[in-house]
Amino acid sequence: MALTRLRGFQDQIGADARAVALVEECARTVAERYAIGEIRIPILERLELYQRSSGETSDVVEKQMYSFVDRDEAETTLALRPEGTPGVVRAYIDAGLDRSDPEQRFYYYGPMFRRERPQKGRFRQFNQFGVEIFGRADAACDAELMIMVDEFRRALGLEVEFEVNSLGDGNCRPAFRAALLEWGRAHLDDLCEDCHQRLERNPLRLLDCKNDAKLAAGAPRSSDYLCDPCRKHFATVEELLTQAGVPYVVNPRLVRGLDYYTRTTFEAVSKAVGAQSAVVAGGRYDGLIEALGGAAVAGTGFAIGVERIAIALDASRARSKSAPDVALIAMGEAAAFRAMALARTIRAAHLRVEMLSPERGLKALLRRADKIGAHFALIMGENELARGVVQMRDLTASAQREVAIDAVAGELAAAVAAAPRG
Ligand code: HAM
Repeated sequence: MALTRLRGFQDQIGADARAVALVEECARTVAERYAIGEIRIPILERLELYQRSSGETSDVVEKQMYSFVDRDEAETTLALRPEGTPGVVRAYIDAGLDRSDPEQRFYYYGPMFRRERPQKGRFRQFNQFGVEIFGRADAACDAELMIMVDEFRRALGLEVEFEVNSLGDGNCRPAFRAALLEWGRAHLDDLCEDCHQRLERNPLRLLDCKNDAKLAAGAPRSSDYLCDPCRKHFATVEELLTQAGVPYVVNPRLVRGLDYYTRTTFEAVSKAVGAQSAVVAGGRYDGLIEALGGAAVAGTGFAIGVERIAIALDASRARSKSAPDVALIAMGEAAAFRAMALARTIRAAHLRVEMLSPERGLKALLRRADKIGAHFALIMGENELARGVVQMRDLTASAQREVAIDAVAGELAAAVAAAPRG
């Protein structure tokens, strides 16, 4: 059997890896600006953590988990994380922060695993850049998170549309749930097979039905069932978004695929990814920390689908930038020794240098310099070495001149600064 990559898993090579790195870098910069600090947590957790948070009736837990029984005495069932939120909450409780210092602001970056049917923008391993804020029950926090996502997408030059909704809380949600149940039972014959299952186990998910969106459009809306505090919370979120100039639409069918949400939910949707158009998603989850054994602390957050953003990005932006400034060509052993020190000097001037093999001929080496897109080639043979010079060739302008070895780093830095590329 050929040892090929697994279905739904990706090798990110060259420009693809750079696009993903660019998204991560941009998200970190924006998060730091919002005074959010990094948290790093394990990729493996107990399966039960996800059953009790993401939700036993969610597709993620029911159908998509990568889990296995560990060989310890208790035969613990472990799972590769399908999302970051439960692990961050677990770590927060583990560290005792929910009681000692509940207001915390975290971001995380890393791989998540879901055994979904692969398609464009949907992978079995993908990266999320997530943010979780604990100890802030106010609507301003929800709005600020969306404003932050807007800042992030603008920094990348990406068009998205925000969809927002409120699912209510423990006080008003039961009435909404009951109304959905009643509506579902009344439309039993029209519901798809999946929805028959959803109806009894989690009627909110009826609204998520991809098979019959038209039918779901006639279903009860959460906004009609919100209690006064939830209504006020949502109105404040809307007001703050409007004031910040973040364009959004209210989507009353936005219930999200995970079970822990209360009040505000949102998604940022991009037309550039295809069917998998949600590039960022999140919302409030005020009961989750308590449900996982912690104190009654509010929570709210979101996660960026890093690969989806990378797909949506204007390809050329991510694809430029990494060609070397200099291809260093040394011929003969003595020149190669001297070139190693020269490369260090040039790199210390913050230029990108690739040293080419000293064991190949000049013609092959110039071809290589061309292929990697180097701006300059520096050529150093026995003759140049003896005279303390190098040939500095501008490969884009096809011009060449001789420069003293000691002056070459400065000359290159000036030339690159004068004619930056990408
Ligand atoms: P989610 O909607 O399941 O929410 O995932 C967030 C984002 O991750 C999605 O909008 C999408 O961009 C990306 N994503 C999800 N599944 C895949 C996949 N199979 N392939 C590629 N990208 C994918 C959460 O995970 C919540 N933890 C978000 C959150 C944080 N809510 C509050 N705090």
